[in-house]
Amino acid sequence: MRMVDVIHNKRNGQALTNEEIEFFVKGYTKGDIPDYQASALMMAIYFQGMNPRETAVLTKAMVDSGETIDLSGIQGHKVDKHSTGGVGDKITFIVGPLVASAGVPVAKMSGRGLGHTGGTLDKLEAIDGLQIEMSKEKFINNVNKHKLAVAGQTGNLAPADKKLYALRDVTATVEAIPLIAGSIMSKKLASGADSIVLDVKTGSGAFMKTLEDSEALAKEMVAIGNNLGRKTVAIISDMNQPLGFEVGNANEIKEAVDILQGAKVDDLRELSLEIASHMTVLAGAFSDYDEARITLEANLDNGQAFEAFRQFIIAQGGDVSMIDDKTKLPQAKFHVDVTADEEGFVAEIDAESIGTAAMYLGAGRATKEDEINHAVGITLKKKIGDTVQKGDVLVTLHADSESPENSIKKVKQAYRFSSEHVDRPTLIHKVIR
Ligand code: URA
Repeated sequence: MRMVDVIHNKRNGQALTNEEIEFFVKGYTKGDIPDYQASALMMAIYFQGMNPRETAVLTKAMVDSGETIDLSGIQGHKVDKHSTGGVGDKITFIVGPLVASAGVPVAKMSGRGLGHTGGTLDKLEAIDGLQIEMSKEKFINNVNKHKLAVAGQTGNLAPADKKLYALRDVTATVEAIPLIAGSIMSKKLASGADSIVLDVKTGSGAFMKTLEDSEALAKEMVAIGNNLGRKTVAIISDMNQPLGFEVGNANEIKEAVDILQGAKVDDLRELSLEIASHMTVLAGAFSDYDEARITLEANLDNGQAFEAFRQFIIAQGGDVSMIDDKTKLPQAKFHVDVTADEEGFVAEIDAESIGTAAMYLGAGRATKEDEINHAVGITLKKKIGDTVQKGDVLVTLHADSESPENSIKKVKQAYRFSSEHVDRPTLIHKVIR
């Protein structure tokens, strides 16, 4: 088989055969197929698309290009969740213990953040001593014992995707739905869970800006998961503003703990319950969504979910006193209010700009080498639909400098006001099965 013929076939709009796709993924991973031919194929796929069979075969070939995690040592039906990324997304810290509190095992592999969205591991490291590197045995033992463990991704999951994603990034071919779906799902499938709940974000702060694109991506990912033997559900949730009120590492842990202690911050509690309910139903712990939801709401209110989080922190070596007394979490030196220059209703809060403002404070990384500052972050005081008078506080910046000008400017750019009443955005747009 010749790579030039594979490119030619896709360029002309033909569906590739299974053999052609496997030939490409194997050859590219080994280094036999050069970047220029892989780039040409990515561009052809960008324009011509892939059918569901092709996407599933591509995903499977990327899974098979590296290690897969064997979670068979964990008792019970293992569920995983994945978010396509958003600002203020601390859902894992709520959903993990919440699902664990219903007796369902969660074995979570997570990553670090780059750019305007923070990573799960970075946020967890706001808790002193918490270890995210551990042996496979310890990971499995922790899940068996506490129903929850979170570890850093091992280096060799879906190496074909790693190579291809880096190539797509510099050849303007990231935004092809079959390629995004295959990329995300290859890593999820290699991580070994039996069922997967996907939180596909939509809106200005999301990878997918329109509901139509988000739905297309969600459908592709659900089809791949189900085709490859994992029960998969996708929830399309809103990212037209940051999730909850806190952005930054310690800030987000604090807000997650508030929810685990029964706080009723509406969007955060609601989305966590939605995701956790689907996860526990897929795992067979409840017969239907309504039954799951009643128990899970109770577990947020009666302290069981919080206790599951405490046990997870202790098991991974973290200082649990920092969540028993949240004032012990890292604290920034200065708290700077950013106020409104006009009155009206909050119409937009560009989540990406808020994320960038937090990154300027030091909460995220601009380059891989940057050190994270766990103490800094942003507290939103006004969200979409709120009324604002001139001089009202929009956000408080928690900073290590007295006057974080770049972040102030970025936050002001993020807010847009309307003179007319604005409805709060719908949080959960659709559930795709
Ligand atoms: N995230 C991924 O892991 N892959 C993509 O292609 C896009 C987002």
